[in-house]
Amino acid sequence: MKFFLDTADLDEIREAASWGVIAGVTTNPSLYAKIGGKLADFEDHIKRICAVVDGPVSAETTAMTRDQIVADGRRLHALAPNVVVKVPVMPEGLAATRQLAEEGIPVNMTLVFSVPQAILAARAGARYVSPFIGRFDDISEDGLNQLSDIVDAVKGYDFGHEVEVIAASVRSPHHVAQAALMGADIATVPFGVLGKCVQHPLTDRGLERFLADWKKVEQA
Ligand code: G3P
Repeated sequence: MKFFLDTADLDEIREAASWGVIAGVTTNPSLYAKIGGKLADFEDHIKRICAVVDGPVSAETTAMTRDQIVADGRRLHALAPNVVVKVPVMPEGLAATRQLAEEGIPVNMTLVFSVPQAILAARAGARYVSPFIGRFDDISEDGLNQLSDIVDAVKGYDFGHEVEVIAASVRSPHHVAQAALMGADIATVPFGVLGKCVQHPLTDRGLERFLADWKKVEQA
């Protein structure tokens, strides 16, 4: 499973990229608003992210009609070759995805909460399909179970092009572990969750002991 970073924060992206484990970035309007992003700077900001990350960078359209989504998609993809256009799953989004895919512009279909939505996204030509785990949990559903069903369903068919499932709305290392075990291609994780994935109390305790014992060697 690959790790993407789910953020628009350049400092977080630079730091995680320096760890050598980040294969891509996903952003959305909420994440851009969270960093105090300005509309006029949005496209330059996506370019800055693309310059740091050697991998797909999802930039989301907020357009609601097929033609506007296609126009946004063309403009966003022209910012850098690694821009992937994030499109919500809805009829206009599916139609736009078909058009963008035919033009060779990769789409990450987002806000996916069911197997039929995932299959439709892949059929429309989406390169990535993003089921949300945490937000499904938030309404007392089982986000991981849904992700597992979507992974099985998507992997069971040949869509005539590569389709990768991105586990999104990831809230914990448990989500990450289960996504990996069920065969999700990618988990897109907030920086805080990535940090928690690195940590383990036994690692900390073991490191403390190694360092203390090494002092004894140095002093002997
Ligand atoms: O990738 C989608 C993600 O950003 C949504 O996460 O935590 O807002 O549900 P969350």
